[in-house]
Amino acid sequence: MAIVRIPQIGRTFIMPDEIQRLLAEIGVDYARWVPQNRVSAWAPTRQILAAYKAQLKEYKSRRAFAAYDIVDLSPDTRRFEAMLGHFRREHWHDEDEAHFVLAARGFCNIHPVDRPVVMVELEPGDLLSVGPGVRHWFDLCAGWRFRAIRFIARSDTSHFHYTESGIEDDFKPVYMGLACFPYKRPKLRIPRTISAA
Ligand SMILES: [Fe+2]
Repeated sequence: MAIVRIPQIGRTFIMPDEIQRLLAEIGVDYARWVPQNRVSAWAPTRQILAAYKAQLKEYKSRRAFAAYDIVDLSPDTRRFEAMLGHFRREHWHDEDEAHFVLAARGFCNIHPVDRPVVMVELEPGDLLSVGPGVRHWFDLCAGWRFRAIRFIARSDTSHFHYTESGIEDDFKPVYMGLACFPYKRPKLRIPRTISAA
């Protein structure tokens, strides 16, 4: 289950309903999915897609995605570091960017206009869809592995619009051996109010 932190106002959210409402306010869709039958995160693609078939069909239709597939990134992946480098810079897309996490631990940081940064710590079973134009960046935490079901938009979403704000430098995870902490102390910026109601 995701944990959401807003370091600039010292708030942490752990309840799924609260997280869902908070993220919906800033253009991000969040849900927890349970498979119809038990399946390993490392099972073949066909078995995974079958286990989540009902949710995948419904979400694809409701959000008008063209398709879905499985992405599996690890240090063995060609250009892994370069890809991570792209995800780690603040950017936005023209279309929804949606993933259902199978195996990974990482932070999706959302930077809403005129609001403080919202850090979403993701784990297996979390679905996160970042809406068009919403500024964000992603960083892997422990494990250096990312396996997820990726939704594919009707038009090409591979294009990253980088903001070049440099804000991501204020929220870098701190790695200590196998442990990982969500961020170093961010510089104080003046936040506006944010509500979870
Ligand atoms: Fe993105």
